[in-house]
Amino acid sequence: LEAAFQSKTLAGKRVLITAGPTFEPIDPVRGITNLSSGKMGYAIAQAAWEAGAHVTLVSGPTALDAPYGVQRQQVQTAQQMHDAVMAQVNTQDIFIAVAAVADWRVANASVQKIKKTSDSDTPQLQFAQNPDILASVAALAKAPYCVGFAAESENLLEYGAAKRIKKNIPLLVGNIGHQTFGKDENELVLFDAKGHQALPKADKQSLAKQLVDEIAKRSKC
Ligand code: CTP
Ligand code: CA
Repeated sequence: LEAAFQSKTLAGKRVLITAGPTFEPIDPVRGITNLSSGKMGYAIAQAAWEAGAHVTLVSGPTALDAPYGVQRQQVQTAQQMHDAVMAQVNTQDIFIAVAAVADWRVANASVQKIKKTSDSDTPQLQFAQNPDILASVAALAKAPYCVGFAAESENLLEYGAAKRIKKNIPLLVGNIGHQTFGKDENELVLFDAKGHQALPKADKQSLAKQLVDEIAKRSKC
């Protein structure tokens, strides 16, 4: 009911969001993943829907329910997330990449479960680089308004500003500290062409609302 009385800053807009971790298989029962809970991405999806947008959420494995009104597509690997995004990004106005996408997948993943043979014999994993989903979207001729996220463990102001330019996107959101994964609260810094601006520590729902308003403002111009 609360949502009905808010100004609909994204009315009629189509918003595509990635969230959660990815899972990269080693064999049919094992894999490599990360500590992303999906909470920030899901909170942004809900806030965007409350702001009047049509929202599609491409999500890696999480324990979360799909937010009300949001269309969710579940994937496991970075390649699947990439393919799901690229298949529908042409019809979107805004793309928000919140997922903690694995930079590498196991190149020599085993079709069968790897068996323990002797004490000295350990599996030798080889890695291949995954596609950069955000960079692929930003490089499109008719790219939607692109927002990236960055979780750095040091030098956030320097790395955040550099990452925004490297990814060629108008807005990059930095998490203060990588300890944010799984937590209910977060602290964000927004990097755009004009500089940076902090959104003080708050719960992820309230930050998501502020962020959606900032994105709505910026994507208009
Ligand atoms: N991202 C993506 N696809 C990837 C890797 C990252 O879409 N294969 C997106 C993330 O969702 C995030 C942004 O790119 O919005 C930044 O991710 P990050 O891991 O911080 O940047 P990288 O360019 O991968 O650099 P590094 O991990 O070395 O810091
Ligand atoms: Ca990365």
